[in-house]
Amino acid sequence: MQMKPEQLIALALEARQNAYAPYSNFAVGAALLTAKGEVYTGCNVENSSYGLTVCAERIALFTAVAGGERKFSALAVAADTEEYCSPCGACRQVLAEFGGDTKVYLANRYGAYRETTVAELLPMAFALGQ
Ligand code: THU
Repeated sequence: MQMKPEQLIALALEARQNAYAPYSNFAVGAALLTAKGEVYTGCNVENSSYGLTVCAERIALFTAVAGGERKFSALAVAADTEEYCSPCGACRQVLAEFGGDTKVYLANRYGAYRETTVAELLPMAFALGQ
């Protein structure tokens, strides 16, 4: 199934509404499109022990993997900012596990976006045995 970047970004902005971010007040949403055309969404979930916080991107990706998915075509990430929201380093490494070719749409609060890829976001990613 084809999906326009704008549609995936709209789903990321919608997922953002479920963010649990009482400590940073920085709500993030992510929407991950699988090769089969399914969409898995995520939002950041914070914790009073700050380091246990999980980003929106990893929630979306782990939910998809738990659902049996392994191949991904695109990820949209959105926050309530003027700037495009860009995945943190930890999420880049986790995304790289499933391939560098996945497109990534970095979106802002208006749904405007910049397109990149996982490989562009994390060149020379660590991989065991390479
Ligand atoms: N966060 C994400 O969910 N994704 C990102 O790409 C960047 C940061 C979250 C983590 C934390 O809950 C909040 O944003 C502020 O860092």
